Amino acid sequence: MASPSAGQSLAGRTVTISAGGTREALDPVRFLGNRSSGKQGAALAEAALAAGATVKFLAAHMDVQPPAGVELVRVESALELREAALKAAVDSDVVIMAAAVADFRPAEVSDTKIKKVDGEDAPVVRLIRNPDILHELVERRNDEGGRQLIVGFAAETGDAQGDVLEHATAKLKRKGCDLLVVNQVGIGRVFGQDENSVVILSGHGAEPQSAAGSKADVASAVIDRVGAELTRVFP
Ligand code: CTP
Ligand code: CA
Repeated sequence: MASPSAGQSLAGRTVTISAGGTREALDPVRFLGNRSSGKQGAALAEAALAAGATVKFLAAHMDVQPPAGVELVRVESALELREAALKAAVDSDVVIMAAAVADFRPAEVSDTKIKKVDGEDAPVVRLIRNPDILHELVERRNDEGGRQLIVGFAAETGDAQGDVLEHATAKLKRKGCDLLVVNQVGIGRVFGQDENSVVILSGHGAEPQSAAGSKADVASAVIDRVGAELTRVFP
């Protein structure tokens, strides 16, 4: 359920939301994947629907069902998600990239199942970079001078190079998106859990905003914020 304050703040708006984790094929039966459950993306779609939006939902692998009432597009890999996202973005007022997109994919995909052979070394998997979909969406929006709000999600851990917020602030600049929703991850933390705690960073100078609670609570807070930001994008 969206919070009452969400009202119908997205009535007449089209919102594209990507969710879940991409799978990068190694051969017909194997892939490289990640721990994203798709729960946060599904909750965002519910909240956007409750706020009156038309929702295009780009679902990579999810542990939960996509919500009823969305325009559903299923995707498998980062390259498939890129194609679907660039297409859906064309007539969207808002794009929210909640999917966990694989940064790398196997350089070679075998048409046939990779077999082990006695006496031979184990195969070495070489990876190549996937395109940065969020960055591409922002560049295209800017090139076309289009009015569109673009939201990224970032899973961060602190490390020797900086704390979570330092990494996230640098990422927001790098990506060029309007909002970046940041959560701190570790094994068993966030991925697949029902509770979440995030900070929403603004690319337009606003103070960081915290939101915590169930993934539905976090989704409502993000969608409320999207509604508020749209008054800036569409004055
Ligand atoms: N994202 C994307 N395309 C990619 C990778 C990420 O669109 N190839 C999007 C995600 O959907 C998310 C945002 O970018 O909205 C941040 O993802 P994250 O993995 O935190 O960022 P990266 O730039 O991949 O940085 P890192 O090296 O820390 O993983
Ligand atoms: Ca990444």
